[in-house]
Amino acid sequence: MILSPSLLSADFGCFARELEDLRKAGIAWAHFDVMDGRFVPNLTFGAPIVKRLRQTSRLFFDVHLMIEEPDRHIRAFAEAGADMLVVHVEAARHLDRTLREIRALGVKAGAALNPATPVSALENVVDLLDMALIMSVNPGFGGQTFIPRSLDKIVTLAALLKEQKSRALISVDGGIGPENAPDLLRAGATVLVSGSAFFSHQPYRDRLLEFERAAAKEK
Ligand code: DX5
Ligand code: ZN
Repeated sequence: MILSPSLLSADFGCFARELEDLRKAGIAWAHFDVMDGRFVPNLTFGAPIVKRLRQTSRLFFDVHLMIEEPDRHIRAFAEAGADMLVVHVEAARHLDRTLREIRALGVKAGAALNPATPVSALENVVDLLDMALIMSVNPGFGGQTFIPRSLDKIVTLAALLKEQKSRALISVDGGIGPENAPDLLRAGATVLVSGSAFFSHQPYRDRLLEFERAAAKEK
């Protein structure tokens, strides 16, 4: 299990310190929720924030672009130091091209599916994916309730990846905490994104251990 805490629920005034605290807690990934107020009804931050934080942190930057026309911004995020760029299939009109461009910039490429989008939308781009992300809430806000149908989508996605001999990671995002982590891992998820459930408990080390204990239960 890879835990990718969503900075959407971190202290927006102290991102650098939050990233350092995550590192000290033994966490390797950080999830950046980029929102443009168009693809989703909320605004967060852009590439300059990622760039500045790259100077202070060596965590794996898992950047979730909830933005229209992602092609206009992927170079800026790549140059800012993102390790993984995840675009939404609903926003990337030429998804094949966008994924190729991300890879050409030397960044890992991911595609995200909204709750209403079927897994089959990824069928023809599996070979271009380092990660596929199943949204288990409608994107735009933290603290929403997990949509149970997402579990079936993880199973379907795992089967699709296996069929095409892909080693892409399966990430799930929205409404995740230690209580539903075992089901998600059993279904085939490898990366769990957690915002409000993770950041609401301190210290982060203990919170990570709770997730890890839950993950061990899955086996
Ligand atoms: C939702 C974001 C998620 C969200 C997760 O639009 O993509 O990353 O912040 O937050 P929680 O864990 O609170 O659902
Ligand atoms: Zn996210």
